[in-house]
Amino acid sequence: MSKALEGVRILDFTHVQSGPTCTQLLAWFGADVIKVERPGAGDITRGQLVDVKGADSLYFTMLNHNKRSITVDSKNPQGKRVIEELIKSCDVMVENFAPGALDRMGFTWERISSINPRIIVASIKGFGPGPYEDCKVYENVAQCTGGSASTTGFRDGPPLVTGAQIGDSGTGLHLALGIVTALYHRTHSGKGQRVSVAMQDSVLNLCRVKLRDQQRLKAGPLTEYSQYGEGIPFGDATPRAGNDSGGGQPGRILMCKGAPEDPNAYIYFITQAPVWEKICDVIGEPTWKTDPEYATPKARLPKLNQIFERIEQWTMTKTKFEAMDILNKFDIPCGPILSMKELAEDSSLRNTGTIVEVEHPTRGTYLSVGNPIKLSDSPSDVRRSPLLGEHTDEILREVLGFSDHQVAEIHDSGALDPPRKVAAE
Ligand code: COA
Repeated sequence: MSKALEGVRILDFTHVQSGPTCTQLLAWFGADVIKVERPGAGDITRGQLVDVKGADSLYFTMLNHNKRSITVDSKNPQGKRVIEELIKSCDVMVENFAPGALDRMGFTWERISSINPRIIVASIKGFGPGPYEDCKVYENVAQCTGGSASTTGFRDGPPLVTGAQIGDSGTGLHLALGIVTALYHRTHSGKGQRVSVAMQDSVLNLCRVKLRDQQRLKAGPLTEYSQYGEGIPFGDATPRAGNDSGGGQPGRILMCKGAPEDPNAYIYFITQAPVWEKICDVIGEPTWKTDPEYATPKARLPKLNQIFERIEQWTMTKTKFEAMDILNKFDIPCGPILSMKELAEDSSLRNTGTIVEVEHPTRGTYLSVGNPIKLSDSPSDVRRSPLLGEHTDEILREVLGFSDHQVAEIHDSGALDPPRKVAAE
């Protein structure tokens, strides 16, 4: 079976998390991803959060599957020559250097597109044009500046960042969509173009419902937020909403049997209007079905805290899995809070390839998240991440067509290898 992106070659100048997330997805769909790394050092994450001494970290391995690695010093003249040849033979260049770094290497858009007018140059930066365009940005900065932190957490607590890497991985996902869209456009325009995604913009896109609420504030209090039921007035900005549901159907995280000693013995429970009568039966409050104080969504809004307290009395008599089984029979939307341990052991996630075991020559077997996007005619296989410079000579010979003599010449120039330590006389 052929892969969806077979025949597409990516010059992968990415590092850390945001860019590598994007190029890993393209690699899973079958693109030939050539990761360019600095000789001797490589992507900084190879050596970050190391758990197995001498082996690439999980941070690196889990973001760089199915790629090839070439080490090239892009500031060395011979290294620049290699990069130019790669530009000629690639369909897409992806980079997430600090603002201006690619230009400082001498690879401006004008230069790149003059070398290969069909190439797509895809970039991630922290911010788009504006006062912060020159800033270096990491995950939590994006979460804070994109509207996520100000709307996450509890009303009476500080802003919170979330564990989901919406700034880095979220931006990588946006960029991947931009790249395949530009590739599609090229099929009829015949030309490459630039694709730019700012981390702030990606986070804001993912926080779109909070900008919705910002505008709704003009029309009055946000009645589905618990603070409405608590009689606490709203300010002029979308507040933090704890675990309130972001949609029109009230929801909360409730304790189950074992909580709070077990930090994950909780369930998310949504009091969806169409199943209200079933909820009343399940929790043992059948009179709430007809009582005008509870029977309509509008009547329930000011009493949500009391209603969820009553539902929690019921959920606390069940484990989160028992509650899930019972509630699902009645189509009552809910979800157990699953720990990373539970997810790692989940057999259905392993069966679908969303959790995969990967063999690695220096670190042994590790777990990773496979491709969450499933194509029926282009399944993804997860291959281990490359060692630093593992494919340098292979790429020079097979992709760029360099002779043995040329390869030796470039090695001699110091463009591909770390500087040799000269022994003291
Ligand atoms: N050969 C020679 N030099 C290389 C090289 C190579 N193969 N690869 C990188 N470099 C150089 C760059 O040219 C740059 O040099 P310069 O500063 O002299 O121009 C230098 O390495 C450092 O690159 P930079 O991108 O500034 O790395 P950093 O570690 O200082 O910053 C980030 C890291 C992530 C903060 C920054 O890259 C950034 O803001 N990126 C955009 C936003 C982003 O993606 N953030 C999320 C990351 S998960």
